[in-house]
Amino acid sequence: MNAARGSLLGIEHLEAAEILRILKFARRMNPDRPRPLLRGRRVMLLFYEASTRTRGSFELAAKAMGAHTVLIQAMGSSIEKGESLLDTGYTAQAVGAEVIVIRHPNAGAPQVMAEHIGVPVINAGDGLHEHPSQALLDAYTILKSKKSFKGLQVSIIGDIFHSRVARSACHLLSKFGVKIILCGPPELVPDIAATIAPGVRVTRHIEDALRGTDVVMLLRVQKERLVGMKIDLPEYIARYQMTPARLKTAKKDAIVMHPGPIIRGLELTSEVADGAQARILDEVHNGVPTRMAILARALGKMR
Ligand code: NCD
Repeated sequence: MNAARGSLLGIEHLEAAEILRILKFARRMNPDRPRPLLRGRRVMLLFYEASTRTRGSFELAAKAMGAHTVLIQAMGSSIEKGESLLDTGYTAQAVGAEVIVIRHPNAGAPQVMAEHIGVPVINAGDGLHEHPSQALLDAYTILKSKKSFKGLQVSIIGDIFHSRVARSACHLLSKFGVKIILCGPPELVPDIAATIAPGVRVTRHIEDALRGTDVVMLLRVQKERLVGMKIDLPEYIARYQMTPARLKTAKKDAIVMHPGPIIRGLELTSEVADGAQARILDEVHNGVPTRMAILARALGKMR
């Protein structure tokens, strides 16, 4: 594969040492103390899908380092007029983009872009494939609470089938020997999900997933992607919703994570979302320094 140096297309093929290098650099970044590392550089944000956290934090990260950003959204751009992915990429390059951050509903779109465009491409979520910047900010968040990956167990509960967040998290955590348990009904967590990465196990029982776990990662039930699937939401809530009582099954110091957007009353209750163990807003907060590191790496400034 021929992607520009500094591209971040997924976690699966990233080495553990490189992941640690990014996380180490991210820990040195502080959005409140801007650093002009990327002064005057041009970052193009190309969003073919809705986004709040990812887009906002890539933009703030770029700006905290002095870069210029241009946001192109599918709605309101030539993409609406039928311009192809690559023609949009060539156009981005022609106007002077030096990095392209792309979110796209199709798996592999960032890779196709990276193979044809001479600038680094950062995957901000591609279909059901990967969401590498989310996995990195989640790792950053876990390490802030747990200090090391050693001996950790992470339980991921919810719509794993449709979740690029889960896929990238499994790839990342498995590189560090973390025990990963995936939990949900078979429609959302097929048995084959256990093959995503080494060290992954599937269970249907929430108590089994929670017992003695260090990290509870909840995922949204992606209603917009459930078309044609038989998911009974009241039954999902009865069996899998994270409640304070269920959370007691996990370790006392377990943390609760969720990439957002959260749907209160579905995958978790408000008590859990706003409770002392929740790290959901910390994840959002940590997204900025993590993406500062990703952008600095893309432009050869991660030193
Ligand atoms: C997720 C996504 O878009 O993959 N959100 C995010 O980027 N933080 C998860 C989701 O949409 O449920």
